[in-house]
Amino acid sequence: MCGIVGYVGPKAATPLLVAGLRKLEYRGYDSAGLAVTDGGRMQVVRCRGKLSGLEDLVAREPPPGSVGVGHTRWATHGRPSEINAHPHKTGSVAVVHNGIIENHLALRARLEAAGRKFSSETDTEIAAHLIDEALLAGAPSLVAAVRTALAQVEGAYALAVVSEKHPGQIVAAKVASPLCIGLGKGETFLASDVPAFLEHTREVIFLDEGDVAEITSAGIKLTSLDGTPVDRPAKTITWDAAAAEKGGYPHFMLKEIHEQPRAIADTLRARLLLEKHDADLDGFEIDARALRRVVLLACGTSYHAGLVGKFLIEGAARVPCEVDLASEFRYRDPVIGPGDLVIAISQSGETADTLAAVKEARARGARVLAICNVVDSAIPRSSHGSLYTHAGPEIGVASTKCFTAQLAALALVAIHLGRRTGTLTPDAAAKLTTEFAGIPHKMVETLEGLGDMAAFAQDYKDARDFLFLGRGTNYPIALEGALKLKEISYIHAEGYAAGEMKHGPIALVDDGVPVVVLAPKGPGYEKVLSNLAEVKARNGHVIAVATKGDTEIAGLCERVLYIPEAPAALQPFLTVLPLQLMSYAIALAKGNDVDQPRNLAKSVTVE
Ligand code: M6R
Repeated sequence: MCGIVGYVGPKAATPLLVAGLRKLEYRGYDSAGLAVTDGGRMQVVRCRGKLSGLEDLVAREPPPGSVGVGHTRWATHGRPSEINAHPHKTGSVAVVHNGIIENHLALRARLEAAGRKFSSETDTEIAAHLIDEALLAGAPSLVAAVRTALAQVEGAYALAVVSEKHPGQIVAAKVASPLCIGLGKGETFLASDVPAFLEHTREVIFLDEGDVAEITSAGIKLTSLDGTPVDRPAKTITWDAAAAEKGGYPHFMLKEIHEQPRAIADTLRARLLLEKHDADLDGFEIDARALRRVVLLACGTSYHAGLVGKFLIEGAARVPCEVDLASEFRYRDPVIGPGDLVIAISQSGETADTLAAVKEARARGARVLAICNVVDSAIPRSSHGSLYTHAGPEIGVASTKCFTAQLAALALVAIHLGRRTGTLTPDAAAKLTTEFAGIPHKMVETLEGLGDMAAFAQDYKDARDFLFLGRGTNYPIALEGALKLKEISYIHAEGYAAGEMKHGPIALVDDGVPVVVLAPKGPGYEKVLSNLAEVKARNGHVIAVATKGDTEIAGLCERVLYIPEAPAALQPFLTVLPLQLMSYAIALAKGNDVDQPRNLAKSVTVE
């Protein structure tokens, strides 16, 4: 999501900025731009679409100057377009920004009332106005104006600012979104990620929360938001450029697995309303009294998220909820119409079956909400409203962080609906929202506890079949665990509701079949233990996913993978993590291409 670059030095800034943005393309974007200052004059160039468009524009008339900032934008507030592309210039300042200014509505209203005119739909333009306002009010320096502006801003962001009246410098600040500074000889670089300048310098300072940097060709001066000096030692980067694009991880999939706590926090930000014990769906209102039914439509991993969503929505809102494979729904003459809320779930927003199902549902009079990770893609555009997951671009074909971000979005829908139907009492909502807010932290704890599963993988990589069993909210996780393993390890795997075991699949169990049993403490725990005993009695190799502190289960299984305690509704955020890591480690042990498994595509745009 969004890439920031900056340069101050003796060279022409434009080609360096464009080259830096190229290295950040993996982050995903839908528009690009740059601002370059030449003494007291600034030129801004922006365009919708790919970087080649920006390259064509600057090739015709290269903006002169040796100080500048550049940006690739992944749209959140406002559609992808030239006017919404960064940098945003107001008065003498231009700003590029990554993240979300949460109080943008209130700030915009205040600035408009003061007579300021906005030219974009973005929250970023607010920052430009605030900095310009502070300069006009007599701020003694660009950094002072940036501080005055940021004191009014709430949210998570990284930003970089250049000014016609303050040549020879960039001011950058970081709260939550990444920023790092490359220290060259007589030149200084700024970027969201190291690859943007790695060919010029390996000496890097990573900004921390609340850091403000004054960047010149001689280096940087670092302070905190309140002006206190900060000292951060430079680190020497030893990775090669290709690895750095994966943030130092060997594969995108592993990086994306570890990004999940951040992806969930970003998806909940400004939507999970802790004080009100409620959830905001980015303004999408549902008339709960007129609501007959919720129908969740999706394919693959997104369908599994939908199965968890059914538990969450029915549990909180007591509204009947169905989950359908989009590929079946579209051809089934479905019973659907006014009074039904369809929620289409898609990571890519381009899946042909889901898109066709959305069109079918709309044609029959249903209201459609898209849960999607790609802004302005086909499915959101075909829906009445969208709730975007903020997982950032997912590059590994096997979906991981988009899945848990979809779960987060569905839980928000469940809370929102439950509060409006009145079935989720204020007390229950308070408990659920508080637990929900703690989930990113528990995900970190889970991932740290699991560590590297390479040794585990050696013991199971030669299995021909795997079974995954779960109950309640963990039944869809059993399906997802089996799908993940199939997709990248090519081992045959089946997911089952644990209670179904004795109705057939138990015939498969012998001493060559590892059986993964999802057995966290909660409703159905005792029943799962019985299922586990049935497998063990037939010499199956049981791998349990269990709650930390459960010592009883260890005696019944070959391996136990622990997760922290959590209420049943939120357990899927945690129980899926060991299954993702396990699949990754087994695929790796088999020498498979983890990020691009055979026969699979990231967006399935055909039937
Ligand atoms: O982009 P979508 O979420 O609509 O994609 C749906 C499925 O194609 C997708 O989830 C697929 O199953 C993934 N390869 C799962 O890892």
